[in-house]
Amino acid sequence: MSRRPLLFGTNFKMHQTPAESARFYRDLSASLPAADGVQLFVIPPATSLAAVCDLAKADDRGIWIGAQNMHWAPEGAWTGEVSAGMLVALGVDLVLLGHAERRAHFHEGDYDLNRKVVAGAAAGLRVLLCVGETAEERAYGVGPETVARQLKIGLHDFPAAALPRLLLAYEPVWSIGAGGTPAAPADVQPIAALIHGTLRDLFGEAAATVPVLYGGSVNPDNAGTFVGVPGIGGLFVGRAAWTVEGFRATLAAARESRSRGVEESRR
Ligand code: PGA
Repeated sequence: MSRRPLLFGTNFKMHQTPAESARFYRDLSASLPAADGVQLFVIPPATSLAAVCDLAKADDRGIWIGAQNMHWAPEGAWTGEVSAGMLVALGVDLVLLGHAERRAHFHEGDYDLNRKVVAGAAAGLRVLLCVGETAEERAYGVGPETVARQLKIGLHDFPAAALPRLLLAYEPVWSIGAGGTPAAPADVQPIAALIHGTLRDLFGEAAATVPVLYGGSVNPDNAGTFVGVPGIGGLFVGRAAWTVEGFRATLAAARESRSRGVEESRR
């Protein structure tokens, strides 16, 4: 059983004003038990980043604050976009790239995501790259091919020296959001193995420490089952963690399952 920290975080998507995100962060930070063995992250909308980063800098919780997207260029004629350097200047720790909603609604493709992934890492950000097949790809039996393609293109020329700042999230598109169907651990395990195997093919043993998170309709009732899946090192949660109570309840279920797993591995 791995002793690496359990990664656990939420993406607010397009919800919350700066004041609402700041209240969430303050309440969360004040109500959490000592986060021993857990690395938390919160990904608010862009307009909340400054307020939340300021709060995170002022406490010593070590909670990573993430952005939901960025552009690959350092600056330029890209109206409406934000660069990695701008995020770093705010105190952002992490950038989420390739979320299924960005891929589906904003037509983000693997080649452009690759430019973003490389630029984010070069700027010193942690990069959380999401991969996952659609329901249609699953129905045609090409889920593994989709995920392998997303990884091989998305991580092309990713520098091995930046691997400690790389995180992957497997989020099957059919499992995400209110219309999603929660995946079963049996759906997740083979893809987690495929992701680790592809990372090994790309980077060798240096990739063994890259964490793979699971996301898609995670809630307090099923969080424990996903934490127990071999190859899964954390959870990436949407709706269930948008209240402090929900965040804490889902985290508690994940931690409980993790410590049960550690106990069992000692026997
Ligand atoms: P959900 O969202 O937990 O609400 O399904 C997950 C995600 O979009 O990452």
